[in-house]
Amino acid sequence: MVATILVPPIMEIGGGAVQRLGAVLARLGVKRPLLVTDPYMRDSGLADRVLTGLRSAGIDAGLFADTVPDPTTGVIAAGAGRLREGGYDGMVALGGGSPIDTAKAMAVLAANGGRLRDYKVPNPIPKPGMPVVAIPTTAGTGSEVTRFTVITDTETDEKMLIAGPGLVPAAAIIDFELTLSCPPRLTADTGIDALTHAIEAYVSVKANPFTDAMAIAAMGRIAPWIRTACADPADRVARENMMLGATLAGMAFSNASVALVHGMSRPIGAFFHVPHGLSNAMLLPAVTAWSLPGAITRYADCARAIGAAGPGQDDEAAAGELVAALRRLNDDLQVPTPKQYGIDPARWDSLLTLMAEQALASGSPNNNPRVPDVAEMVALYRESWE
Ligand SMILES: [Fe+2]
Repeated sequence: MVATILVPPIMEIGGGAVQRLGAVLARLGVKRPLLVTDPYMRDSGLADRVLTGLRSAGIDAGLFADTVPDPTTGVIAAGAGRLREGGYDGMVALGGGSPIDTAKAMAVLAANGGRLRDYKVPNPIPKPGMPVVAIPTTAGTGSEVTRFTVITDTETDEKMLIAGPGLVPAAAIIDFELTLSCPPRLTADTGIDALTHAIEAYVSVKANPFTDAMAIAAMGRIAPWIRTACADPADRVARENMMLGATLAGMAFSNASVALVHGMSRPIGAFFHVPHGLSNAMLLPAVTAWSLPGAITRYADCARAIGAAGPGQDDEAAAGELVAALRRLNDDLQVPTPKQYGIDPARWDSLLTLMAEQALASGSPNNNPRVPDVAEMVALYRESWE
């Protein structure tokens, strides 16, 4: 099997890397970037710090700070308008997964016109967009290195997956110091998202030896440090391991795809506005348990990589330990069930079939080592309810 591996051509990795932004833009030939971020980054002063740094490097950047969690088609359209009117030749995306996904989608829309839903999977994206430099401030989505963006279509409430080689950022600046102020809940949710990326990339039917290496390395960094990063946000060792783990997991799933957890998680986010990492976490133990028979050795490898099973345990026992460890992690990080989250049970019930159909249409469940039909997905949603 020949695997096509795509990663950003430039990655600056380490504490303080954000200071290299001006040099990175110069290497890319970007002279007039638009900084894409969210109101929190603007109000916390981080966006200003970045703009000031750019100004002292002789770069006059614009600011678009209107990104929202679970980015919507409306915000993307507004941002693409700003891009066109301002004569910008690149973007700097600063924040969690949402601002980075927003910038990527703005680039698609600005280059290709039309509506964003024209480019959702499996449709191709005809023209590559302008370069995006991604600077994550959470250790989670991996969007800084992936070929994906996920945008909610406000007309249909669908979380659309949009994918293509042109969506890989031109550069990623991976500076764990930017995560030191990330609050515990966000650290937990985004950290479990990253762990899910690593596990799903490793068990994906599209996995390959290159992504395997990154996925296993990611699990080995995230699992031992996620509790510390939540309990002691200023712990630099924990933060650096989480950041490296999230980026490795991002490269793994960008090149091997995610699977059933992500497929089923997106509709929960779209209909009930549950943060992405949290909706993954709600599903991860039950979906993993159901999927075990499809790839028992692979799941056993995951158990060993996160330290949940020893080398002496056979695959069956080790894979069982993985599910137990994922349940413990949810308990320790106080992940609520959909019921505890406050989702209306009647609405949940009435939407389950549609959610399963949307999950199937996204293509992600087909990458799972055991592929469910709609009825089996509905049963898994029900199992995860409480
Ligand atoms: Fe994710």
